[in-house]
Amino acid sequence: MKLDRVVFYGRLGEQAMQMFGLAAELDRWRGSTVLDCPGGPGTLAAHLRAEGCDVTAIDPVYALPRADLERRALADLEQTMAIQATSPTLRSDFDLEACRQEHLVALKAFLDDHRAHPDRYLSAALPDLPFKDQSFDLVLCGHLLFSYAPLADGGLMAGQGLDLTWHRRALSELCRVSRQQVRLYPAHTIALNARRHPYAEALLAELPAGWRGCFVPSIYDQGHRGCTDALQLVRLEP
Ligand SMILES: C[S@@+](CC[C@H](N)C(=O)[O-])C[C@H]1O[C@@H](n2cnc3c(N)ncnc32)[C@H](O)[C@@H]1O
Repeated sequence: MKLDRVVFYGRLGEQAMQMFGLAAELDRWRGSTVLDCPGGPGTLAAHLRAEGCDVTAIDPVYALPRADLERRALADLEQTMAIQATSPTLRSDFDLEACRQEHLVALKAFLDDHRAHPDRYLSAALPDLPFKDQSFDLVLCGHLLFSYAPLADGGLMAGQGLDLTWHRRALSELCRVSRQQVRLYPAHTIALNARRHPYAEALLAELPAGWRGCFVPSIYDQGHRGCTDALQLVRLEP
């Protein structure tokens, strides 16, 4: 599968909880400040807020008026589905139509939450976030780093993509704004037989001072085989 830009594409909060291994940890994070970066047209922020977290979501596309957010999400969903329908990176038993319906449910719930809490959805972009150091207890980053690396490096981008230098700056920024943890998913290549993403291995080997990390398998199924790892990073001294 290949794309020529980062798509405005969102998932259900329950799916994101699987991606980040959070479902069994809610008691730990209740009452915490959380950054969803990027939020996309997904419902992780709404889900965590309903569970008692203080959540902010950022995405450069949030600069658009709400009606345009919906139009953009629908256009990107249909384009991505059309590409996935002929993609050799998906397992033959993966139900793409069910997946499409889940994205539509997520989009509707996202728009409802965006309407109810517009101040919690901010327009911003990595690698420069408009937050002070250690502003959030937990920083979550789904389907941006690693996924949008160039095709040749195990990502989705037909052109230049987000290269390793960009990834270094983005990860350093995610760590800067986090007080406790940063979790990234996927940390694997986007391929039928996924493997650990080489950028994720490189970044783990050169973490900012005061951080340690590890790969953690995820139970979220997005239609590949093989590696399902997320990358979890912990600040040693808050
Ligand atoms: C595939 S979506 C992922 C959304 C959600 N985190 C998920 O896992 O479903 C990627 C998102 O990254 C956003 N994006 C693109 N460039 C970005 C940047 N430089 N910094 C932060 N977000 C960016 C896009 O607008 C898009 O909503």
